[in-house]
Formats: sequence, C-alpha cells, structure tokens
Amino acid sequence: MKNRKIAFLLLLAASCNLTTQSKKDQPVYKDAGRSVEERVNDLVSRMTLDEKVMQLNQYTLGRSDNANNMADPVNDIPAEIGSLIYFSSNPDLRNRLQKRAMEETRLGIPVIFGYDVIHGYRTVYPISLAQACSWNPELVKQACAVAAQEARMSGVDWTFSPMIDVARDGRWGRVSEGYGEDPYTNAVFGVASVKGYQGNDLSNGKNIAACLKHYIGYGASEAGRDYVYTEISRQTLWDTYMLPYEESVKAGVATLMSSFNDISGTPSTANHYILTGILKQRWGHDGFVVSDWGAIAQLCPQGVAKDNKEAAQKAFNAGVDMDMMNRAYDNHLGDLVKEGKVSEELLNDAVRRVLRVKFRLGLFENPYTPQSTEKERFLLPQSLKIAEQLSEESIVLLKNENNTLPLKNASKIAVIGPMAKSQWHLLGSWRAQGKAEDAITVYDGLEREFKDKAKLFYAAGCDFDGEDKSGFKKAVTIAKEADAVVVCLGEKAQWSGENASRSTIALPQIQEELVIELKKLGKPVILLLSSGRPLELNRLEKLSNAILQIWQPGIAGGNPVAGIVAGRINPSGKLSITFPYSTGQIPVYYNHRQSARPHQGKYQDIPSAPLYEFAHGLSYTTFEYGDLKQSALKVGKGDKLSIEVPVTNTGNIDGMETVHWFICDPVSSISRPVKELKHFEKQMIKVGETKIFRFEIDLEKVFGFVDGEGNRFLELGDYYIIVKDKKVKVEVLTETF
Ligand code: GLC
Repeated sequence: MKNRKIAFLLLLAASCNLTTQSKKDQPVYKDAGRSVEERVNDLVSRMTLDEKVMQLNQYTLGRSDNANNMADPVNDIPAEIGSLIYFSSNPDLRNRLQKRAMEETRLGIPVIFGYDVIHGYRTVYPISLAQACSWNPELVKQACAVAAQEARMSGVDWTFSPMIDVARDGRWGRVSEGYGEDPYTNAVFGVASVKGYQGNDLSNGKNIAACLKHYIGYGASEAGRDYVYTEISRQTLWDTYMLPYEESVKAGVATLMSSFNDISGTPSTANHYILTGILKQRWGHDGFVVSDWGAIAQLCPQGVAKDNKEAAQKAFNAGVDMDMMNRAYDNHLGDLVKEGKVSEELLNDAVRRVLRVKFRLGLFENPYTPQSTEKERFLLPQSLKIAEQLSEESIVLLKNENNTLPLKNASKIAVIGPMAKSQWHLLGSWRAQGKAEDAITVYDGLEREFKDKAKLFYAAGCDFDGEDKSGFKKAVTIAKEADAVVVCLGEKAQWSGENASRSTIALPQIQEELVIELKKLGKPVILLLSSGRPLELNRLEKLSNAILQIWQPGIAGGNPVAGIVAGRINPSGKLSITFPYSTGQIPVYYNHRQSARPHQGKYQDIPSAPLYEFAHGLSYTTFEYGDLKQSALKVGKGDKLSIEVPVTNTGNIDGMETVHWFICDPVSSISRPVKELKHFEKQMIKVGETKIFRFEIDLEKVFGFVDGEGNRFLELGDYYIIVKDKKVKVEVLTETF
C-alpha cells in the first residue's frame, strides 16, 4: 500500500512537472490562466502583418439569406479569416471551418461566427418595434437570452443586434427593427437586449456577443428611403441619437456596427468623430466596430473615396476595425500599412479589439460548438412561453368603440382577410432561422380560442394587394351570416425591413375596399392589423368598431391575438411609435420642438394631430390616475426628488398598466422637446386595487440636457413632470456647467 502511495505521489509530481514544463513551453496567449490583456498582447506580438490583416475581415459562409446582400459563395475561405457570417442552423459546417483555423494555421486563432439574430433565432419573437410596445424590458431580456442560447448552440457566437436606431418615419422599412421614436425607449431596450444576449459570462457556451447598430443616425434616412443621406446636426446627434448607444456601451456591449448613412457630409463609416472620438476615446469602448455589409466600399458612391483602397484607408483610420464583405481590408490594408497611410499602432489596436472579444467568448479554449439535436436547441417550452407572453404584451388595442371587444356573445364569427391564414407574414423581416410552419395563424388561434363557444366562417376576401375583387362576394356572404366580422389585414413581411421603403404607409386600396363592403352590412367590424410599421388608418378607423395592432407577432401568432379577441387576455400594449393621421404628416412624433406659433401653421387639408399618439393603448379595464405627489417643490444640489402617482383599477377585469413619466423644460438655453420620456413602469393592478408608481429623479440625468458636443447641463428654473394629463412643477435651484 505504502509503495503504491509513493508511486502515485511520484507520478503526480512528474505530471505536475510536465504540466509546469509544458506550461513554460506554451505561449502566454494559449494559457487560460493568464489575463485576457496578457494573452491579447502576447498573441499580437507574434502575428505577421498578413495574419493581422486577415483578423480584420469577415466573409460569408455560403449564400446570404439577406436578399439585399447577394454574397458569392466563398469557396476558398482562407483559414486565417477573422470572422464569418454563418447561415447554417447547425454547428457542423462551422466546426469544420473552425478546425482548419485551429489546426492548419500558424497560430491557431479561432474564427468568430456572426449572424443577424434580431428578434429570435428559431423561436421567432415579435419584431422589435412591437417588443417595445410591451414596455417590459425584463421580458425582452429573457427573449434575447433564449435567442442567444439557440444561436450559440447552432454555431453562432455573435449577433448583429440590437438595432437601436431612433426612427420617426414609417416609410422607412427598418423602423420595424428598432424600438421606435424615442431615445430613452431605445436606450432601455438596447441595454436589456445587450444583457440578454451577453449575460454575465460570454464564455459559457450559451451567451453571444451583441452588436449595437447602426451606429449612427440611420433612422434619419431622408424621406424614409434606405441607404441615403441624413441631415443630422451635432445638437440632434446628441439629443436624439446618442443616448441609446451611450447607455448600451456602458452596459458592456462587445461590438458595434457602423451604418451606411452619410451624416451631413461625412458617412458614418468614415466618421472619426463618432467611431473613435466618442466611442473609443470618450466612452472607452474596448470592443470592436464592424462595418455594415459593403459600407466601406459604399464610400465610393457616397463620394468620399475614389476607390476601394482609399475607402479602406478612410474607414480604418476613422475607426472601423473589421470589414464586412467589402474585400477592402484584405486587399488593401497591408499595403496601406507599408505605405505609411495606416499606422501599425492603429492596426495592432484593431487586432487587439477583435482578439479581446474572441478571448472573452472563450473561443480559444472552446473553439467548437458541441453537437446537439434540434429538439435540444429549439422551441423549448420555456422559450415558447416567453414568445407567447411577449406577443400578448406587445399587441396594442387602438380602438374599442362601445366595448366591441372582447367578443363575449358572438356565436357566429366571420374571419376574413389575407392575413387570416398567413404564417409567413406573421414572422416579419429578419426571421433568422424561423420557419413559417412554426407560426400559429390568426384563424387557427381564433378557432382554438372559440372552440365550443362560437362557429367560425372563413374567406380570404382579397389578396394583400392587386385589384382582384372576386373574393369580396364570398366574404360578404359569410359576413351576412355572422354576429361579428373579424377582418385580418396588413403588410407582407417583405414590405418592411431592409431596403423596404414605401411611399405611403397606407395599406393597399384593395384591403380598404374590402372593409368598405363589409361595413355596409352593419355588423361590428373588428380590424386586426399585422405590420412592420405604423399605418395610415384614418379611413379604416371610421369603418371599424375595434382595431387591434398585432404587429408581426412571431411564432406565437394567432394565440395571443385570439386570447385578446375572446377576452382571456387583457391587452396592455402601448405604442412605441406615433401613428400619423396620414403619410403626409410624416415626420410626426411626440417629442417635437414647439412651434413659434402653436395655434397656427397647421395643415389646411388634414388635422395636425396624429391619429394615435406615442404611448397610446387601450385596456379592457379602466385605470384612474390620482394626483401626483412630489417630495419637494424646490430642489438644490444633491437633493433627492421623487414623484408618486396612485393608479386604481376601476374596471371589472385585472389588467397591466404602464405609467409613462415625461418631463418638460419650457425655458432653456436651447429649445427642448415639448416633453421627453424619462421613465416608465408596468404593473399588474387587480380589480379595485390601487398601486403606487414612483419615479426617483436624478436631477441631471432627468432634467439636464446635452449640447452639440455631448456635454450635459442642468439649468436653474422651473421643470414639469407629466403623467397622462397631469403635471406638477419643480423649481431647480442648482445648475451645472
Ligand atoms: C445588412 C444590414 C445589417 C446586417 C448586415 C448583415 O445590410 O444593414 O443590419 O446586420 O447587413 O446581414
């Protein structure tokens, strides 16, 4: 026994010695016991110029599934490539490519695989614009965590999400991808998404690196056309677009994506002020910036570079670290360094940034994605539950005349319209690996909900567009027999998203004409709308007794919709973007500057007020807001200030209510919006119950404003806190300059 023990101890000592020996031999960058910075610096010191350049390139792996970017299948992917966009939904191909990087290259640097996981990976959630209408960032964070796990288990390490572009022009198809018209809303949901995707540990095999996009100001695309000029003053850059990025960078986002748009003469992708001055120097971001697809090469048509080489030089020196599919950095960066047009120091900084994210993802220790079955990866019960709840809370009841909804007494329901049995269009744009067959149609949801309660009749009535009215007859026939008519209209999925601008936000005429015919029957008309943008509804509003904006609800599809129509669910969604009265009103948004003549300058031919305001949303119950109670009338430096409002459920059904807290600074050294959202909170309030909503105010953060250089100011004076139609005044006695 004793000999065995001695033998074991000798063996142990020998193996420790071996380990120490082998540790001594292995390079620092391969030693997981060393800090990330030590490993990054060691690895960069070993790399050749070519190896450094290749780390700063991203190709696709196979054909792109984004129709706007046709990528040639890259057959001869160099094993030294830094990143690949990964379109497969299982890790096999990825692991094969990764094996080449790990075993067939001199240093064995793993590839980072990216993909557009925008509102779910295989479990597709509502589009982001809808998610914001839930006013439930915690739930959005959970959805992003599920998306991250599905993606990471499928071979994706990095998502090009969240999109946090403040957008106020519904003609722009990409309004669907962000969180609406308000800077604070985009900031809160941007942070929630980053935390959901990245979690607390990027290396645990379940989280993925996030990417803020499109940095910056893309939502101001002129007239809602895509990829075009954006006129953005420095003041607007800071008071409208920067906040979501500043907050999400502070939350620790791993990467950002430079945008396509030209910012008042300097395209984002060549804009040193935003990419380096603000992002890297002022905010200290230590991750990396990837260009949007082709954005570097696009500096040529934008008129600031004569060829790809000059484009590469301008983008790199501005602060774009990685080239997505331009073939500019791989072809020209090495020469630019040799010619002294790009410094070796800046090159090393960019490589360090990319390697830092790779180390944090644990890719050097775990370069391969473990095998798993689709059943283990996708559509897990908990994921579906989140999908259902997020869709329920995103749906907005816009109109409900005489409590048409919920449909309690209907025994025969006509379900009509091109959206009624669609699965594909419910998923919206950027559906990643989502499958149409996973989506529950509105009709199926209604059929399940009204089983044994009502008989359903179906007719398509018409297509989404076109002029064929031959389906009207059958639609009218079944509507005649029904107690209520549910009309399911809206947009095709491809009518919003990238490169999907529309000159009008009205639905095609044929859809409106169908409702006109049905209205003639004198039955209650319930309009269900699925779209990726705010719609022009002033004509349809007059024809409908109730209107439910279901957005593009994802795979939960018809279930939450039917639950609300039947009254099983009390709708709680509120708009994250204004619904204009008509396209001609655009841009119209709540946080606008005051007119010099508030009572003049209106349109002669249409109302100047939007049809449905930001934060509008009805419930099946009623909520009564009590008086605002403020902890102080005057506040000085360092003082605390809190405002409370009691909200009572005075109706006869439990419901969730979101209280939006706005501020107004009527007199300031620069003009400020008529009101600004600074806080929101959602709570369940049972029948007869009163809940207190409280806003703890940080004077500078809430009342202060930023100037054109991003300096935050708090000025003396009177400020107002606004909730619904109530407001209280607070006098601020301190100022900061
Ligand atoms: C696209 C989009 C961007 C996306 C990228 C990769 O052109 O602008 O949002 O992440 O290319 O698909």
